[in-house]
Amino acid sequence: MSSTTASSGTGESTTTSSGTSASAVASAVASTAGTVLRRALPDPAGPGTVLTLMGRVEQARQLDGLAGALRRVIRALPLGRSRDILHGRWLGHPVHPLMVQLPIGAWTSSAVLDWTPGGRRPATFLLAVGLAGAGPAVLAGLVDWAELEKEQARVGLVHAALNSAGVACYSASLYARLTGHRMRGRSLALAGMCAVGAAGAVGGHLAYRQAAGANHAEAVPHLVPPGWQPIGRVEEFTKGAVDRRRVGDVAVAVVRGTDGTFQVLADRCSHEGGPLSQGRVEDGCLVCPWHGSAFRLDTGWNRTGPATAPQPVFDTRVDDGRLHVRLRMPPPAPH
Ligand code: FES
Repeated sequence: MSSTTASSGTGESTTTSSGTSASAVASAVASTAGTVLRRALPDPAGPGTVLTLMGRVEQARQLDGLAGALRRVIRALPLGRSRDILHGRWLGHPVHPLMVQLPIGAWTSSAVLDWTPGGRRPATFLLAVGLAGAGPAVLAGLVDWAELEKEQARVGLVHAALNSAGVACYSASLYARLTGHRMRGRSLALAGMCAVGAAGAVGGHLAYRQAAGANHAEAVPHLVPPGWQPIGRVEEFTKGAVDRRRVGDVAVAVVRGTDGTFQVLADRCSHEGGPLSQGRVEDGCLVCPWHGSAFRLDTGWNRTGPATAPQPVFDTRVDDGRLHVRLRMPPPAPH
């Protein structure tokens, strides 16, 4: 009896001891993870490790040689009118974020099925579907990337490198599955998902913090003073030239035709903010000096990309020898 009690007592003591040490380990891991996260993420004291790292990538001039060579190759691709389709001009905003839905959705579903009983074959099928969908999404992304400014292009290179690593992992995973190495295939798919997830975070930085793909003329209707505004005497504007003036806080590009008529667009290009007043007039359009988007002078419509959004346009009238402009609002939608 006393022996059983002693033995039982020893067992409880062992269980309690191992339970205590497990909870100590869990608490140490949680505390370390908390410290790492606190340092990695921005807080009121500063940007944190991740944003500091992204800031370094934005300033990494070492990437410019590679970016320049790749940009030249992409711009030389004989894509013709498909280039604007890949930019998303037909959609009114970049098409790349839409096209990545297929591979990401397929790969995420594949990851779930990979760890579900009976999911082996559909997981492999979805992984292959994701790889097939990645091609067009990559092409659209590259075409957009080739028209970005330097800081954005550097971050875009990291985004592309992580996505390439993801695609390589998924390709190797597919090969492993087809040659009977299922566990290796699942592990490679998990590695691919991590790489693609990191690429998504970098893409978010590129789109939301660096405003790549955003409409850079969106703020104009919120900033321009309402009603007619004088911007200069008629004789100040040279016939056949493009001048820059301000309407409140908004810069505008003023085109005085050879016939003396005026056409006025917001100066800051909707694509990346280039100065349209330094552009050229061509075939009824004002062509941006940075990446060549052409905006119709009469409507502001983006006739060719890479801009996917039109340019705010102003009505004009001459009163008492002075040119007045007023932002033209879009017509109300039909009922
Ligand atoms: S800034 Fe890129 S086309 Fe104008």
